[in-house]
Amino acid sequence: MKFFLNSYKKAIFFTIFIYCMLITPLKGAKTSVSSSSSSSDQQPKLITYFKSTTLLKTPTIKDLQNQSRTSKINLFTSSDCSIWTKECSNEILKIAQKTEHVKWIKSVRRKIHEHPELAFQEFETSKLVRQELEKMEISYRFPLATTGIRATIGSGQPPFVALRADMDALPIQEAVEWEHKSKIAGKMHACGHDAHVAMLIGAARILKAREKNLKGTVVLIFQPAEEAGNGAKRMMKAGALENVEAIFAAHVSHQHPTGVIGSRTGPLLAGCGFFKAVISGKTGQASNPHHSIDPVLAASAAVISLQTIVSRESNPLDSQVVSVTSFNAGDNLDVIPESVILSGTFRAFSTINFYQLLKRIREVFTEQASVFRCSATVDFFEDKDTIYPPTVNDDTMYEHVRMVASDLVGTTNFKVVPPMMGAEDFSFYSEVIPAAFFYIGIRNETLGSIHTGHSPHFMIDEDVLPIGAATHAAIAERYLNEYGS
Ligand SMILES: *[C@@H]1O[C@H](CO)[C@@H](O)[C@H](O)[C@H]1NC(C)=O
Ligand SMILES: *[C@@H]1O[C@H](CO)[C@@H](O)[C@H](O)[C@H]1NC(C)=O
Repeated sequence: MKFFLNSYKKAIFFTIFIYCMLITPLKGAKTSVSSSSSSSDQQPKLITYFKSTTLLKTPTIKDLQNQSRTSKINLFTSSDCSIWTKECSNEILKIAQKTEHVKWIKSVRRKIHEHPELAFQEFETSKLVRQELEKMEISYRFPLATTGIRATIGSGQPPFVALRADMDALPIQEAVEWEHKSKIAGKMHACGHDAHVAMLIGAARILKAREKNLKGTVVLIFQPAEEAGNGAKRMMKAGALENVEAIFAAHVSHQHPTGVIGSRTGPLLAGCGFFKAVISGKTGQASNPHHSIDPVLAASAAVISLQTIVSRESNPLDSQVVSVTSFNAGDNLDVIPESVILSGTFRAFSTINFYQLLKRIREVFTEQASVFRCSATVDFFEDKDTIYPPTVNDDTMYEHVRMVASDLVGTTNFKVVPPMMGAEDFSFYSEVIPAAFFYIGIRNETLGSIHTGHSPHFMIDEDVLPIGAATHAAIAERYLNEYGS
């Protein structure tokens, strides 16, 4: 996910990551998909499951690990899980939490963490993934979009449901001192994509172990270039979504305690674009301004006018942002410069609003420039793949995630989250098929995993890995259960 923290990249594209403060009541949070998943049904099961001594105690992830290790699987009722019970979720957790599985999944993540690779250069990461898939006898297609992989598990028949992990790292020097610190200078998995890959590999193993249960096909998408270069778009062009009817993906989050899952229905992450405008006038001595055409004044008026697009033209209930983040002109205190270069970013939660913002930003620059006898050109970097549509969760797919997660980690460990102004190229998938994106917590104060993505201090609580693997696996298996025949 892109946070655009400008302290780590000088590029004009990067701006400050803003948490949106909109917390609206959600219809999805209260409704349930199937009768067996209503909270009144679930609460007693939850208490039995966690054998809680205090009924109101929120089960912690430690309880969850302990529980899945000690739970007795009832082999007579679990059968093929075509009728899903709590025991089926337990079985998945139990596989995920096996000591040997946890050790392996951590080792995969650590290897990737030590060797971070930037967008479209994930050659070693991709090779590692393929080696693990081969060991598990999971077939795959490679390469898609240079380093991408599409693996399949299950019957080979419809329905096809996809799980996606992104593989690329960031051009950041790791500041965390630990045994498995990045060995590549200036590159770091500072956004948790190493964990995403490990969780999906972990899910592959669980799903392979349960392949006979799968009433359709799970497609695992290992994608390059989420941070830069629109890897998702390239994967789609290469056929990653062939036959796929729904897609899910997770992102680690330092905002939630380890293993807590969060999502929301509808718009989750903003659409994101950047602009660079050049306003040109005529240079001249500042003491005789009438001999020049001042682009600084024109640019200043444009900055003010840009702020009125959101404040006066947009629905206040529909969050949008326009920020000018860079303003550069001459360096001689006595000379009116020839031109001013302004850059910035804009965000919106619907595609229509997003393109409306783009149109108005262009108009404001050109029209304001002409008021002051200047001319303007505006570049939106469309050719450089820096435009991301909003990430919108499908209502039904969101409900599926909520149901699966609540069953797996407990209703109290599922949170409805507010939309955020960050952007994600998962949005390209969500534009074409029903999709749901969710967060999985990595916050642990003791460990210090409290830093935001794109910070050189970013780290995760690795206890998230088995839980994330189990969540992915359960989402896919239960999807096929519900929609397969
Ligand atoms: C784990 O479960 C066992 C058996 O139920 C129990 O005796 C033990 O206290 C639990 N440990 C923790 C850390 O909860
Ligand atoms: C945080 O991590 C430490 C070390 O692994 C662990 O002992 C502790 O239980 C964790 N805390 C939470 C809330 O998960």
